[in-house]
Amino acid sequence: MPSPDTKHDPGPAVGPAYAVGIDFGTTNSSVARIVNGHVELLTLSTPTIKPSPSSRSLLYLEKAPKGILSSTGPHAIERYLSAHREGDRPGRLIQSLKSYLPSRSLTGTEVFGRHYTLEDLISRILLDLRQAAEHQFNHPITRATVGRPVRFVGAETEEDETFALTRLRAAFTRAGFTHIDFEYEPLGAAYSYQSTLTHPETILIGDFGGGTSDFSILTLGPLHSSQERQVLGTAGLPFAGDAFDARIIRNLVSPALGSNSFALGLNKTLPAVPAWIYANLERWHYLSFLRTRNVLEILTSAQKRAIEPEKIQALLALVEEDLGYQLHQAVQRTKVALSHEEEAPFNFSGPDAGTMDLRTTVHRADFERWITPELLQIAETVDTLLETAKLPPQKIDRVFLTGGTSLVPAVRSIFETRFPTRVTAGDEFTSVAQGLALKAAETTS
Ligand SMILES: Nc1ncnc2c1ncn2[C@@H]1O[C@H](COP(=O)(O)OP(=O)(O)OP(=O)(O)O)[C@@H](O)[C@H]1O
Ligand SMILES: [Mg+2]
Repeated sequence: MPSPDTKHDPGPAVGPAYAVGIDFGTTNSSVARIVNGHVELLTLSTPTIKPSPSSRSLLYLEKAPKGILSSTGPHAIERYLSAHREGDRPGRLIQSLKSYLPSRSLTGTEVFGRHYTLEDLISRILLDLRQAAEHQFNHPITRATVGRPVRFVGAETEEDETFALTRLRAAFTRAGFTHIDFEYEPLGAAYSYQSTLTHPETILIGDFGGGTSDFSILTLGPLHSSQERQVLGTAGLPFAGDAFDARIIRNLVSPALGSNSFALGLNKTLPAVPAWIYANLERWHYLSFLRTRNVLEILTSAQKRAIEPEKIQALLALVEEDLGYQLHQAVQRTKVALSHEEEAPFNFSGPDAGTMDLRTTVHRADFERWITPELLQIAETVDTLLETAKLPPQKIDRVFLTGGTSLVPAVRSIFETRFPTRVTAGDEFTSVAQGLALKAAETTS
């Protein structure tokens, strides 16, 4: 990667083209800038992963002869999969880092004997994004308008929110950003939607990502009109697509791995394996934390006593072979297919005999039943937001839905029933970054 200081003319440090919008998402991240009034998105690719304007917020750490090698985004996936293919002991694939920002108990983690703070890990992803953007945009990047959720996952108090934001700012600073402005992610999406307006509207934005569901109601005029943006209300929920994945694991995958199985013994009602092990399975990136001697011993002894030992054997193999990413991919494929089909296959088979081999069909109606608690909370949050803003649904001119999880039909229908014919959507994976870039250009021009 060329250094921006040596290979490029540094030019002025301000101006629309020099400030970017960054959506650091729980699952995916995007970077955008405005050039001559148009949005340009950073596009990342690798030899085996096709170019995309939204890249996975992933970090992969592997042991190398001279220390620890790290790679991010599509490069992280590529290296992780190649280690698996070559039968190497894979390194650590880390994701959903954004979800830990408010957690005071998670200050960092030990990887291959080295301690990393959460800010270190996040800044590593941000550094690569910044450098890739400098390369593509051909100018130095130190200023950014950065998205933040209305409510961080796990934040219970205002102090938690401030704590999370302070850590996120520190990670951006560590990655070389000197001017960082935060903006609510749904407002980012609103600015992007604003560029399509021809007359003023009162809009409700719903941004459903991997970790959070965020809402805003605001009045907007066409871009560059004298109409002031006015935010009438915001709300946030600390869950989204990751929670839907967890429901699929709980209802479909865990039972195939013995979550409802019992152990032989004096007390026949004793579960074969403690429930906390399955809880870890529901967040796929926790799976690698299960590969400890203690857990492997629990599973080996449970297998001997279990009424259905083959299920515990399959769980043991999943943990030993660290197949969390592959399992998660299988869950995602099914979930994504259910967004446009009434039923979809779920196929997962591990590379070796004894690993889980689960092939079944999932009906959309079952999936919707599994995610009912989340759907109810989303609906309640929308209703409360309208009440708080003192706006009946008919006062909303348009609803703009964005984020990958807004593609789930049951999520959309919450809005279609309340706001018939007024729901619109678009640029599910990049609208937040595009809007943040517009905001960045506005504040620096
Ligand atoms: N077609 C689809 N149907 C259902 N879910 C989908 C689809 N495509 C992607 N998703 C889900 O969308 C989520 C990712 O969306 P997005 O990239 O908007 O999140 P993010 O911005 O990284 O997260 P957050 O905004 O919460 O920080 C994942 O949970 C993914 O499984
Ligand atoms: Mg998002």
